[in-house]
Amino acid sequence: SVGSSKVWNEDTSSSNLTPRLQKVRKNYLSMNKYNVAYNGPRNAVKLSPEKLLCQLQDRVNVTMVQRSDGPFNTSDWHRYLPRRNISGEVGHLGRCAVVSSAGSLKSSRLGPEIDSHDAVLRFNGAPTKGFLNDVGGKTTLRLINSQLVTVEDQHFLTETLYNTGILIVWDPAPYHAEIHEWYRKLDYDFFKNYKQYRNRYPEQPFYILNPKMQWQLWDVLQENSVEDIQPNPPSSGLLGIVIMMTLCDEVDIYEFLPSKRQTDICHYYQRFHDRACTMGAYHPLLFEKNLVKHMNRGTDEAIYTHGKVTLPGFRNMQC
Ligand code: C5P
Repeated sequence: SVGSSKVWNEDTSSSNLTPRLQKVRKNYLSMNKYNVAYNGPRNAVKLSPEKLLCQLQDRVNVTMVQRSDGPFNTSDWHRYLPRRNISGEVGHLGRCAVVSSAGSLKSSRLGPEIDSHDAVLRFNGAPTKGFLNDVGGKTTLRLINSQLVTVEDQHFLTETLYNTGILIVWDPAPYHAEIHEWYRKLDYDFFKNYKQYRNRYPEQPFYILNPKMQWQLWDVLQENSVEDIQPNPPSSGLLGIVIMMTLCDEVDIYEFLPSKRQTDICHYYQRFHDRACTMGAYHPLLFEKNLVKHMNRGTDEAIYTHGKVTLPGFRNMQC
């Protein structure tokens, strides 16, 4: 069997980061761009995995922006927001897969296993074409950030890989901001391109993630970390994991916790090297990985060989 020393240690601390990434974390802590004022508890003694899962279910409210949400309650927005809610759109999902975009997916041959799930979530510009063997071909949902939607050189409006599956866009909000405040202070002003995409592909469901989720999740993360975590929203990866926990009976997460294929290659679909992609810079990714490792119901062996973690869907928990 696999020694636990070979997989992600759930007590990884910032002192395990390279000096450069330690400095980046400190810079974000002093910058505090989103005006985080955390004064909640810090759990000196770790919650059990079950209690932690129940905390997530209790406190993280996963919803999409609806027509009744304040600033979106206009006749203009009514034309653009999807009519159906997301759980009605996807139906009842059994086994789901979340595919991180990590470089360690390369040569993994996880494609068939990933595709055997009822639904697959991918992130941002992660392609399947050309990578079927390693990441599979099924895309049920795609979580994208507002920068990708907004910045012209990302080709969001013309790149065909975005035309498959249900799209969800998210944008960083000020700490526990009202939806009105966020609406006026978007990190990236993605509304114009959102509407343009909706005009071009009106049949494709395309949701806007309600921003309140990100800081509810961040609070649980901070509460259960020994150190101060970066005061920036969780990564798309952790947001996607929690979204799928609300929609599915069970969630398998691939290469969020690195397997034996761990590499400094950032994404499986690019040549770019940067350890920050796996260890975090802007996002409190190291602490996200500690949390996910603590809650894992799968084995260390599955992490080592498949980079695979298994979490229960919220509706299958007894809290
Ligand atoms: O880079 P991007 O945000 O598109 O990747 C999707 C998610 O996959 C990240 O938010 C992060 O949670 C995870 N990831 C990772 N390690 C990498 C690359 C991505 O954990 N090397």
